Amino acid sequence: MSGRYDEAYAWSMRDPEGFWAAAAKDIDWFKPWEKVLDLSEPPYARWFVGGELNTCYNAVDRHVAGGRADQAALIYDSPVTDTIKTFTYRELQDQVARIAGMLKGFGVEKGDRVLLYMPMVPETVMAMLATARLGAVHSVVFGGFAPNELATRINDAKPKVVLCGSCGIEPGRVVAYKPLLDAAIEQAAHKPGVCVVLQRPQAQAALIAGRDHDWNEAVARAKPADCVPVKATDPLFILYTSGTTGIPKGVVHDNGGHAVALKWSMKNVYDIDPGEVYWSASDVGWAVGHSYIVYAPLLHGCTTVLFEGKPVGTPDPGVFWRIIEQHKVVSLFTAPTAFRAIKRDDPKGEYIKKYRLDHFRTLFLAGERADPDTIQWAERHLGRPVIDHWWQTETGWPMAANCLGLGMQKVKYGSPTKPVPGYDVRVVDENCHPMKPGEIGAIVVRLPLPPGCLPTLWQNDAGFLSSYLKDFPGYYKTADAGFIDEDGYVYIMSRTDDIINVAGHRLSTGGMEEVLSAHPDVAECAVIGVADALKGQVPLGLVVLKSGVNRPHGEITRELVAMVRERIGPVASFKHATVIQRLPKTRSGKVLRSTMRKVADAEPFKVPATIDDPVILDEIRAALQEIGYAGIAAG
Ligand code: COA
Ligand code: AMP
Repeated sequence: MSGRYDEAYAWSMRDPEGFWAAAAKDIDWFKPWEKVLDLSEPPYARWFVGGELNTCYNAVDRHVAGGRADQAALIYDSPVTDTIKTFTYRELQDQVARIAGMLKGFGVEKGDRVLLYMPMVPETVMAMLATARLGAVHSVVFGGFAPNELATRINDAKPKVVLCGSCGIEPGRVVAYKPLLDAAIEQAAHKPGVCVVLQRPQAQAALIAGRDHDWNEAVARAKPADCVPVKATDPLFILYTSGTTGIPKGVVHDNGGHAVALKWSMKNVYDIDPGEVYWSASDVGWAVGHSYIVYAPLLHGCTTVLFEGKPVGTPDPGVFWRIIEQHKVVSLFTAPTAFRAIKRDDPKGEYIKKYRLDHFRTLFLAGERADPDTIQWAERHLGRPVIDHWWQTETGWPMAANCLGLGMQKVKYGSPTKPVPGYDVRVVDENCHPMKPGEIGAIVVRLPLPPGCLPTLWQNDAGFLSSYLKDFPGYYKTADAGFIDEDGYVYIMSRTDDIINVAGHRLSTGGMEEVLSAHPDVAECAVIGVADALKGQVPLGLVVLKSGVNRPHGEITRELVAMVRERIGPVASFKHATVIQRLPKTRSGKVLRSTMRKVADAEPFKVPATIDDPVILDEIRAALQEIGYAGIAAG
C-alpha cells in the first residue's frame, strides 16, 4: 500500500540531486541550472544554482501559452461583500502585467522590496505575482497586525513601495487599514517613497499628497510589464513570523527551489491534477496563503479559490460546503480551528447535508495540532479522508504528511503521518543524540533542507544560524517537540520555544511579555498559552505589580489587554490578564511557565523540585479561578 511513498522517500534520501532535478523538469527555466545542490558554503544549501526562471511566468504566462488561457485561474468568493468573481488565466495575466507595469513605473526593479498590507481581494494575489514578475521581493503583512508590528517589518524589509487596501472586512466591522499604515510609517525609521491605495467601497482612505497614489488610476496609466528572469537563488518573498522575542524573523523563500517543491507537492502530497479546483481557506498574510492560495495551485495550472470570510457567521457554518459545491472544489486545506468553529455551530453536520459535495475528495488540516475529535467529526460528516499534515512558515510546504499522490497510508490519529520526501526528520535529545522510537525529544531535520525551505533570514545570516542551525549541528531545529513511532509516524506534541498557536496563527508570548512589561505599574510578567476549545490556545497574562501600586486590578488588566491589541494587534486574541503576588521561579530564577500553564489548564503536574516557593502555585490557582481558568483542582 505504501510502496510508492517508500520508494520516493528512499530516492529523495539516497540521491537528493537526482530526485529534485527530476521534479525541476516540471518548471519552465529561462536558463537551466548548473548545479542542482550547492553545498560549497556549509551549512548553507543552495538549490538549482546557475538556473534562471520567473515564478510569475510559471504561475501565469506559461498556462496562457500552454492552452489554459480561458480556464479559471482565480475565483474570488467574498460573502462579506456579497461578491463572486472569476478571472481566467488570460485575465490574470493581463491584470498582473498591468500591476507590474505600475510598480515598474514607480521605480521597482529586480531585488527591490514591495510590502503589501492588503485584505483578501484579488488585487492582493495579483500584486504578489506582479512583484514576482519584476523579480522584486514581496512581503505581505497580515491585516490583523497593529501599526507597531507593521513598522518593524517596514524597517526590516525597507520597501520601495507599499501597497495597501483601504480596509479589511471582519464580520460586523470594517477595519480601516490606511490609518494603520499611516501610523506605522510615522513610527518607522524607513520611509517608503510610494504608497498605492486600493480604495474599496466600504471605506475611502485619505491620500497623502506626494506619497500616496490611487491604485486604479495608477494601474490605468501603466503599460503592461514582462517577466524578468531571476536566479533560482534570488528571493521571491520575505514572510515575517514570530520568533522568540518581539522582533519577528524575516523568513526568505527563493524562486527556484520554491517553485519546484510547490509544484511537486500539488500532485504528490495533495493528489491534485492541473485544471482542478483547489481551495486553501487561509489568509494570504500567512505561509499557507502564500504557498497554497497563490503559488502552488497556480504553478500547477489549477483554479484557486480566494475566500474573504470566516468558516462561521458569514453567513452560517455552511459557507465552506456552499463554496465546495458551487465552485466544484476537489480539495480543501484549512486549520483545525476552522473545523472546531463549524463543529461548535453545527454539531450534527446539518449544513453539510444541504450541499452536494460530489467533486470533493479530501480535507487537509495544518497549522496547529489536529485533535482527533475534530478529525473524526469531519471524517464522519464528510465521508472523505481528513489529512493532518505538519509544516512551518520556514519550510513553506509540508514536512510530514500522508502523501496522497504517492498512495494513501494508514491514518494514525494524532500523527501527521510520515516525513515528506526530501525531509530527513529525526528526534534527538538536547545533546543531539537520537531518541528511541516513541521517546519525546526535539524534532530536527538533517541538513540540507529540501528545495523550497528558507535559505536564510532576510539580511540576517547570523540570526538564521543562531535560530535554526546552532543548537543541533548538522540539523535544522524545527522548535517542535515530539516523537517518531516504531512505524516511522511523526507526532508533534508542543513547541520548545515560547511560540503559541492561536487559531492557527503563530504568536510569540515573549513579544506579548515585552508589551506588558512596558506598563508603568508592572514589575514582572509572564504570558502563557492556555487551552481553548475553539482556538486551540489563547494567551493569558500573569502580572506582578510594582510595590506601592494600589489601583484597582481590573483597571490595570483592562489597560494591559488594550495595550496588546494596540501594539501587536487583534490577531493576538489577548483577552485575559490577572494580577498575582509573585511569579513561580526555580531557585536559579527561571520562570516556571509550563507549570503555570498546567495550573491554568487544570492538568496534573508535579511540583518542580527546584521551585523556590511552592505555596505561590496555590495563590496562582486561586487568581486564575477568579477569571475562569484552573477549573478543576490540579493533582
Ligand atoms: N484584519 C483585521 N483584523 C483581523 C483580521 C484581519 N485580516 N483577521 C482577524 N482579525 C481580528 C478579528 O476580527 C478578531 O478581532 P476581535 O478580537 O475584535 O474579535 C481578532 O483579530 C482575532 O481573530 P481570529 O483569530 O480570526 O478570531 P475570530 O474570533 O474572529 O474567528 C475563527 C475565529 C475560528 C472563525 C477564525 O480564527 C478562523 O477562521 N480560523 C481559521 C484558521 C486560519 O485560517 N488560520 C490560518 C492559518 S492556516
Ligand atoms: P506556522 O509557521 O505559522 O505555520 O506555524 C508552524 C508551527 O505550527 C509548527 O512549528 C507547529 O508547532 C505548528 N503546526 C503546524 N502544523 C501542525 C500539525 N499538523 N500538527 C501539530 N502542530 C502543527
